[in-house]
Amino acid sequence: MSAPAGVDVRRLMAGFPTGVSVVTALAADGSPRGMTCTSLCSVALDPPTLLVCLRHGSPTLDAVLDTAALSVNLLHRSARPTAELFGSGAADRFDRIAWAAVPGGGPHLSQAAHTIADCRLRTCHTVGDHVVVLAEVTRITSLRSPAPLLYGMRRYGTWAEDDDAAFLSYDFIS
Ligand SMILES: Cc1cc2nc3c(=O)[nH]c(=O)nc-3n(C[C@H](O)[C@H](O)[C@H](O)COP(=O)(O)O)c2cc1C
Repeated sequence: MSAPAGVDVRRLMAGFPTGVSVVTALAADGSPRGMTCTSLCSVALDPPTLLVCLRHGSPTLDAVLDTAALSVNLLHRSARPTAELFGSGAADRFDRIAWAAVPGGGPHLSQAAHTIADCRLRTCHTVGDHVVVLAEVTRITSLRSPAPLLYGMRRYGTWAEDDDAAFLSYDFIS
């Protein structure tokens, strides 16, 4: 199956900037897996549910399906090298960054993330060349100010320093 002429989803979504996450999981043999993901979105507040779309054939996806546990590492604004590393396909990506295994989730990238959500797999659904993963959040670890790394227009960007004050009140948004 191929896309209709002129339909390029990457180009379409380049105009829809997002934050950047690294989705991680431990393979059945205990080895770490992880990939950069911008397909993250929230689905439900109760039960707290996130969605990520992972490509078919991904070792990270295989680990999520094998263990039914994953973590979503939300990258902070200085973590562009981590986003590039985990989007590169490099086989040795976990040798080049600090990480820690935690029970009930995937590897934590605590130096690159501002916040980490541990999740358990609820359900998944194949759509074309990707698998939609729905995961329930079981624990949130806040590490530092949530000033995020951004991605849009096929470029990385950052939240302006001046806007940090906005985060001080973000807990009050309901
Ligand atoms: C900014 C950015 C966002 C990405 N978002 C996704 C995504 O949401 N889903 C996906 O399957 N791949 C995404 N990718 C591509 C994967 O990160 C890349 O293919 C990675 O090497 C896959 O790792 P794996 O081979 O261990 O599965 C993204 C890459 C970048 C650079």
